Amino acid sequence: MNVVLGISGGIAAYKAPDLVRRLRERGANVQIVMTASAEEFVTSTALQAVSGKPIRSNLWDKEAEAAMSHIELARWADVVVIAPATAEVMARIVSGGAPDLLTTICLATEAPIALAPAMNHVMWGNAATQANREVLEKRGIHILGPGIGSQACGETGAGRMLEPDAIAAAVFSLGGGKGESLLDGRKVVITAGPTREAIDPVRYITNRSSGKMGYALASAAAAQGAKVVLISGPVSVPAPPGIEVVDVESAEQMYEATHTAIVDADIFIAAAAVADYRPATVVKQKIKKKSDAMSIELVRCPDILASVAEMESSPFTVGFAAETENVIEYARGKLENKKLDMIVANRVGDNFGFDRDDNTATALWHDGQKSFPTCSKIDLSRELIELVAQHFYAVRSADTQPRLTAISNSD
Ligand code: C5P
Repeated sequence: MNVVLGISGGIAAYKAPDLVRRLRERGANVQIVMTASAEEFVTSTALQAVSGKPIRSNLWDKEAEAAMSHIELARWADVVVIAPATAEVMARIVSGGAPDLLTTICLATEAPIALAPAMNHVMWGNAATQANREVLEKRGIHILGPGIGSQACGETGAGRMLEPDAIAAAVFSLGGGKGESLLDGRKVVITAGPTREAIDPVRYITNRSSGKMGYALASAAAAQGAKVVLISGPVSVPAPPGIEVVDVESAEQMYEATHTAIVDADIFIAAAAVADYRPATVVKQKIKKKSDAMSIELVRCPDILASVAEMESSPFTVGFAAETENVIEYARGKLENKKLDMIVANRVGDNFGFDRDDNTATALWHDGQKSFPTCSKIDLSRELIELVAQHFYAVRSADTQPRLTAISNSD
């Protein structure tokens, strides 16, 4: 779905990068159009980074207009949303004037238009603003919110911009069929984060996994309509909205939670960095330092991924292979040994993989592979979920696929 996101000059513009993220997580292409005053609140550099597209703001920018004119942009949009929408931009749209790029697009588009007003509660309550709201609604423009609560000015009342996720959800429902979901009605179970294997009541063995990849995959699968159960080790990433998160600590707990959730799952993605070994016994009291050296006997943890893959009616099973060397070779070995449908290989170690916002990965299946250039974990997750969905339908239910594009073996 193509979304023109207009940003006008209110303090709530600081939430715009988050809104862009939410829209992109759901699969939207986002073209940002800023008004001159919006640039006082949020930088075009930040917005370009999150949207992945140059920002448009000037109606008279010859170069940008030559690439895609304001009329083409207005036609390209499946939805035009302005968030935050100030009292001023509402008034400009009501007047029918087109003094800048954003209002020109509003006049020139046939796509649904939504405004998420954000302003001081007295400005929102002002008779002029309310009259403008009424006119806009009569013309079929959707007014999202505003919410009621504490405001940047220190006062309380109606005028807060709705939260980015609520705006993104509204934009997708306005976009109708354009946001068609690949995994509607499918259940996806995902493991994420590290595990903690207790040594005594205060110490444990863990690893450097941040959970960012698994959480991004969970959001991307949910954005494609899946019911997602995210089984998460201890992480500091916030729980994605609309996703059932099962918090666990140890590999054994992750194993139990996975096998409870997996029963009716269609797809299992093991993105967690599960401990391979745990202390053979957990010492009841804090271990005291006595001798110069000590050793801890370790025993193998259950391999959750392999145990799911070998189930009689296993879901489509995807593993991750985090390696510091021979990445592809080791990953292909795991794909075959653990009898997986797909594995995602990625390099970890200094400057790669763990606890970062970006990742470089190659997905491998039995007779093909596809490499993804370094990109954010959010973008990578979206592409991976599409690839997983394509293979899932190809392997499991060729007759019920919603919009399967050809699977290409590329690298
Ligand atoms: O064999 P290795 O640990 O390198 O395989 C990595 C893959 O296996 C990852 O997908 C990880 O989530 C999964 N795994 C697991 N249970 C374990 C160890 C790894 O599910 N005990």
